[in-house]
Amino acid sequence: MGEWQKTDWRRKPRVQMPEYTDQAALHPVEAQLAKYPPLVFAGEARRLKAALAQAARGEAFLLQGGDCAESFSEFSADSIRDTFKVMLQMAMVLTFAAKVPVVKVGRMAGQFAKPRSAPTEIRGDVELPSYRGDIINDIDFTSESRTPDPARMLQAYTQAAASLNLVRAFSTGGYADVHKVHSWTLGFTDREEAEKYRELANRISDALDFMQAAGVNQDTAHTLQSVDFYTSHEALLLEYEEALTRVDSTTGKWVAGSGHMIWIGDRTRQPDGAHVEFCRGVQNPIGLKCGPSLTVEDLKVLMARLNPQNEAGRLTLIARFGAGKVGDHLPRLVRAVQQEGAQVVWSCDPMHGNTIKSVSGYKTRPFDSVLREVQEFFAVHNAEGTIPGGVHFEMTGRDVTECTGGVRAVSDEDLSHRYHTACDPRLNASQALELAFLVSEELTARRRAALEAAV
Ligand code: PEP
Ligand code: CO
Repeated sequence: MGEWQKTDWRRKPRVQMPEYTDQAALHPVEAQLAKYPPLVFAGEARRLKAALAQAARGEAFLLQGGDCAESFSEFSADSIRDTFKVMLQMAMVLTFAAKVPVVKVGRMAGQFAKPRSAPTEIRGDVELPSYRGDIINDIDFTSESRTPDPARMLQAYTQAAASLNLVRAFSTGGYADVHKVHSWTLGFTDREEAEKYRELANRISDALDFMQAAGVNQDTAHTLQSVDFYTSHEALLLEYEEALTRVDSTTGKWVAGSGHMIWIGDRTRQPDGAHVEFCRGVQNPIGLKCGPSLTVEDLKVLMARLNPQNEAGRLTLIARFGAGKVGDHLPRLVRAVQQEGAQVVWSCDPMHGNTIKSVSGYKTRPFDSVLREVQEFFAVHNAEGTIPGGVHFEMTGRDVTECTGGVRAVSDEDLSHRYHTACDPRLNASQALELAFLVSEELTARRRAALEAAV
């Protein structure tokens, strides 16, 4: 085996990728992207890896969240700001409970390509290719719209660059200053979780006032005025990923320039497949979705292939089994990781194992199932003596009605009101914040147990 090359994936079996029939249209797009600047820089990916290494040791907690699929039509500064804002709120809630830094990673600025359960969609007697995300084809049900169009990669790149620019401005331009903890409330003033959030914001303000009165110095003040916010997406469309992959001039190693962290989906994690081949060669933090069909044998091979040096922060295992099934699968995988002595972040995605079709016909996720999966995830780690390192949510800062339940109960009939997702149902701002409070209870319980064990 020679040195890894960014084109090596092309010799491996690929699944869930479009067949670009018009190669003459594809090549100029790839050449164009290869000339464009990378969206993220190697030093940033390394910094995220170091933060995730802390999460692997229980010294930080990962919060990853955002759209199932970003879309060209829903792109707006407001929606990015609102998702950013609700993630800051959630991070505050989690930091307060866990008393460790929260690593904030958006499913954002590149989350455009989707794996699908069927290659085609049938309506009446018409059968067309499935929608695979705006970077590949259009959601409209016409033959023209559903034909994969490579030029869409250029639009995705432009949208990702603009999104990232906004996120960078929000992170460092004063907006994310912790002193503004009160102003991040999203207008849901009369609701229970908003009340809980306000109480917490008051306690944070008090602590800040205290620190100032006690003369905490300017260096610390600076760290409170900005946040580190990273981007991530599923590395599904490998032509796009390859074109944005560059050599890091500092280390001489390859880095995916499309986002800080990339992950491998539950449907594309074949150990000898194209997606694993691509991801193993870049130095970014890598996520691996772990669903019910993942065997212990495959997990061991995947860990060896994706993280041969056993570097902490390199690999995040994202468990997504479905409520009621975590106990059937997570313990055997957790034990395999322990047996190998592997350094990983264990994160919980309580979304993808809990998708159902509602009576009204919409794809939805009951909030109770989402919450129950998170609790089961914590219970397994508590029993195994291992570390629950993070959570992974599909969510938006907008007031959508896509998942049922929550304090402000969204019912089956409500789903049609504001169902805007291009793919899977997302938690709305209020459900996301409520979930953060429930996760924070689990983190608080763990911290208390640890303190008690120490005395
Ligand atoms: C996703 O995260 O949007 C997704 C498709 O997840 P999974 O690969 O876990 O099904
Ligand atoms: Co999804």
